Amino acid sequence: MTKTKGLSRNDPCWCGSEKKYKKCHLGKDAKKAPGRSRKKNPLILDAHERDAMRTAGRFNAKLMDHIRAKVQPGITTGEIDRLVYEYTVDHGQIPACLGYKGFPKSCCTSINEVVCHGIPDDTILKDGDIVNLDLTSIVDGWHGDSSETFLLGDVSDEARRVTQCSFECLYIGIRAIKPFGKIIDIGKAIKAHADKFGFSVVREYQGHGIGRIFHQEPSVPHFPELRIYNRTVEPGVCFTIEPMINLGTWRTMLDPNDKWTVRTLDRQLSAQFEHTILMTEAGPEILTMTQRGPSEGHKF
Ligand code: MF3
Ligand code: CO
Ligand code: CO
Repeated sequence: MTKTKGLSRNDPCWCGSEKKYKKCHLGKDAKKAPGRSRKKNPLILDAHERDAMRTAGRFNAKLMDHIRAKVQPGITTGEIDRLVYEYTVDHGQIPACLGYKGFPKSCCTSINEVVCHGIPDDTILKDGDIVNLDLTSIVDGWHGDSSETFLLGDVSDEARRVTQCSFECLYIGIRAIKPFGKIIDIGKAIKAHADKFGFSVVREYQGHGIGRIFHQEPSVPHFPELRIYNRTVEPGVCFTIEPMINLGTWRTMLDPNDKWTVRTLDRQLSAQFEHTILMTEAGPEILTMTQRGPSEGHKF
């Protein structure tokens, strides 16, 4: 089979169009880079690019560590957003969410039944809430993307259990993937773990390749999606794992007014954690590891 840029003809195109490579950039790539002088697959990072992603991931983690103590009952999500914006620009970096496809704020704050993409506003966080804070920054042109769910004060047993499960699913997903391994193994492992608790895994929103572009190939479903059965992760590829785990149905609904906020269809709780990962020759490297946040094995 012909291979250009390390992609096979029937692979999804590297540009993120979701078309097959042969129907998208293959023609252009072959013309631009004939024979031995073919350009490299842009998804596979060289040593310098890997270091640039490490720097971006480290900054994003420092930002999370900076904000963590502020996520308490009584603060508004808008105030959290302002702190995220200020810390980011004060350090000379760019909040990736701000203006991304028209998103109006610098981070996402998703409370209780909100699955993802909640818009910071004047909502006051209260005792018993769970809230996911999803941060993305651009450092020297490269993206770091990570999120944590916070338990505020005295939360219900269900809230704690679904949060614990989503945290475990993140690490189970990370441990399920090896260099040149199949992406579907991530989703298989995560789905199996959620099933044990009777929780469900969101399907419409998935992990993603990340680099100079916020969302790119490969997609990283958190359930075994057959469409990506043959896709593998080569060393040098960066991607996120960000399982959204629901207490009830996996089905979601987009807010018809703001067109961003995603809620569970049954309005039951949803929790999520996210890391940016670099696949190396030795295995996955977590680029967004915090100093003070929960680490693998943590019990909430
Ligand atoms: N950070 C989210 C993710 O994990 C994306 C947020 S896009 C925004 O992919 F526009 F809503 F900010
Ligand atoms: Co992400
Ligand atoms: Co994110």
